[in-house]
Amino acid sequence: MANYDLIVIGSGPGGYVAAIRAAQLGLKTACVEGRETLGGTCLNIGCIPSKALLHATHSLHEAEHNFVKMGLKGKSPSVDWDQMKAYKQDVVDQNTKGVEFLLKKNKVDWIKGWASIPEAGKVKVGDEVHEAKNIIIASGSEPSSVPGAEVTIDEKIVVTSTGALDLPKVPKKMVVIGAGVIGLELGSVYKRLGTEVHVIEYLDQITPGMDSDVQKGLLKILKKQGLEFTLGAAVSKVETLKTKAKVTYKLRKDDSEHTVDADVVLVATGRKPYTDGLGLDALGVELSPRGQIKTDAQWRTNVPGIYAIGDAIDGPMLAHKAEDEGMAAAEVIAGKHGHVNYGVIPGVIYTTPEVASVGKTEEQLKEEGVNYKVGKFSFMGNGRAKAVFQGDGFVKLLADKDTDRILGCHIIGPAAGDLIHEICVGIEFGASAEDIALTCHAHPTFSEAVREAALACGDGAIHM
Ligand code: NAI
Repeated sequence: MANYDLIVIGSGPGGYVAAIRAAQLGLKTACVEGRETLGGTCLNIGCIPSKALLHATHSLHEAEHNFVKMGLKGKSPSVDWDQMKAYKQDVVDQNTKGVEFLLKKNKVDWIKGWASIPEAGKVKVGDEVHEAKNIIIASGSEPSSVPGAEVTIDEKIVVTSTGALDLPKVPKKMVVIGAGVIGLELGSVYKRLGTEVHVIEYLDQITPGMDSDVQKGLLKILKKQGLEFTLGAAVSKVETLKTKAKVTYKLRKDDSEHTVDADVVLVATGRKPYTDGLGLDALGVELSPRGQIKTDAQWRTNVPGIYAIGDAIDGPMLAHKAEDEGMAAAEVIAGKHGHVNYGVIPGVIYTTPEVASVGKTEEQLKEEGVNYKVGKFSFMGNGRAKAVFQGDGFVKLLADKDTDRILGCHIIGPAAGDLIHEICVGIEFGASAEDIALTCHAHPTFSEAVREAALACGDGAIHM
């Protein structure tokens, strides 16, 4: 048994960042993790391995489609799936070991095992009970099943993102249930590997919650890449046969029932907080009807000394949102003023082209009755994008019509996930579109498209 100022439960991006910041602020800190490796879903079976597969398969796409155009001739590469998975695992290992190094460097103890909280101020791991003045629950989330449907996930034929990252072989046909972030990223991976990918989505558009220009633009691009979509369709049943599955769905417009076979079915219909085994019921920690731990604006639960952050609480289930909350909660516990600006949390989809978004969508501004203007610029007018075959897509900047203050930005295009941060910083500083438009941007860069969109909010873009 040991005494700590803070014990963090969970070592995902929320938990390990909270632990490091707390230690940097002088708190004696431990982090509990039951997995063999640190880093949580993101590093082990989420963001990091999926990005490795996206990179590998994008490279394959370049070799198959663009090398010859660039005068690069020769035998085109074939896929060694086992080697691709080994590369992915190596990337994961480097990252999880990196977190282990950082915890050691900051003198954070890693308590190995699964934690429960027998009472406030105590964390039990195995037979040991540790004392903690403060506890942060950063236990993350797990895939949820298809709402209202009969589906048994076996992680072989009917898989979540976890199984999809580790399939024994590349399937001939995959049905993806849900056109959200996971469905589109992993659907893209398998499409590029030669799988026939059919995405079935309940809503009439993809990427729920995103700006409708992005929804329409991305759908068009992904269809051009060969992904098949059935929108406005609710999956009601997934039956597993010996080596295949049969998916039944109903079209919402006419209630007609359809079936489709697949070698693998990817269930990508959202995630839910993971709080099993913590003992929250007995402690009386309040949860929302969706199972999220309720907190105040400084991540305190209703039980004194117990905080919660990340996917286990309300808000977008994003690693960077969890990181920010982790840092801020540690600061609050150390007596400082931790703060997260929930209005400036970027969202990125790592398809090719990438999609990135921050602030308000045009639909939200209309609903709120804000007097806004739109500056839009196509990557077709960006020299650098054309040089790398990525002229599809645009930057859409939304600004207040009266004050010119930036309200939101939505990008489909090369390096969109990096470009968006210029606008994140801008919004944090209360920038106007003119501030971006008057900032010199290096030529030739993708970032010129952001400036052009800002120019389009004023007297007009130059290259369009
Ligand atoms: P999601 O919430 O993004 O999308 C789920 C989709 O499934 C929705 O469009 C929904 O309408 C659809 N759906 C629900 N029930 C259905 C049914 N019966 N039939 C057909 N469609 C149905 O969830 P997703 O993609 O599983 O991601 C989970 C979480 O992980 C999200 O919060 C996401 O933001 C996060 N994530 C973020 C990543 C990133 O930042 N790049 C990468 C991967 C995940």
